Amino acid sequence: MLVVIKKTYEEISKEGAKHVAGLIRQKPDCVLGLATGSTPLGLYKELIRMHQKEGLDFSKVVTFNLDEYVNLPPSHEQSYHYFMWKNRFKHVNIDARNLHIPMGMSDDIEQFCHWYEEKIAEYGGIDLQILGIGANGHIAFNEPGSSLGSRTRIKTLTEETCRDNARFFQNEKDVPKYAITMGVGTIMEAKKLLLMASGVGKAEAIRATVEGPVMAKYPATIVQLHQFAIILVDQEAASKLEGDYPGS
Ligand code: PGA
Repeated sequence: MLVVIKKTYEEISKEGAKHVAGLIRQKPDCVLGLATGSTPLGLYKELIRMHQKEGLDFSKVVTFNLDEYVNLPPSHEQSYHYFMWKNRFKHVNIDARNLHIPMGMSDDIEQFCHWYEEKIAEYGGIDLQILGIGANGHIAFNEPGSSLGSRTRIKTLTEETCRDNARFFQNEKDVPKYAITMGVGTIMEAKKLLLMASGVGKAEAIRATVEGPVMAKYPATIVQLHQFAIILVDQEAASKLEGDYPGS
């Protein structure tokens, strides 16, 4: 695991984008695992800039998103389908046939989850998985207590996560209570992980992830066992780390 600390959110966004762009240049048909939430927005913005100004070519890139709310139509402004089109896909030359986002409206969620896992395998697995982290140590919607070997499935969101997400909805009661999420085991099979965090609100989760014991209570701690995991954080998110890490 490599911990990289940069001063600001802008710097981690640029650094993260460099990793993604480097992979796309080296392997134009790479498979990217994508995250939603506020953390990767700067990285996506930088990738869009690289596409527009430097010709970074997404035409052969394949993507799989980590998660999606259950029962929120793709046209809903808070659905992750909507988020991805607005903040990323519509600004680059990506082929819509190569994009995969869990279908929260599926009639048969169990079968869908099975299909999603098979599809990832069919493409040869995820080359680089981008991850945010919840203040409670979740990755994707693998909430505390998730099995560390779990696969794509439906999860009930914790009250804390619903509260965190409430800022995006008009009423807290509108916040979905369920989501489809890649499992911890699914995420760990990606060839490389890029976990990003910004702000003091993430400092405790980052401390546990980097320096705490591996445990289901903080699903993100599992990344300690990944051979190629980069933890890219700004100084605030790194503020509770005790070790000495490069870039700080
Ligand atoms: P955030 O969410 O990027 O909006 O902080 C991250 C997460 O909850 O995984």
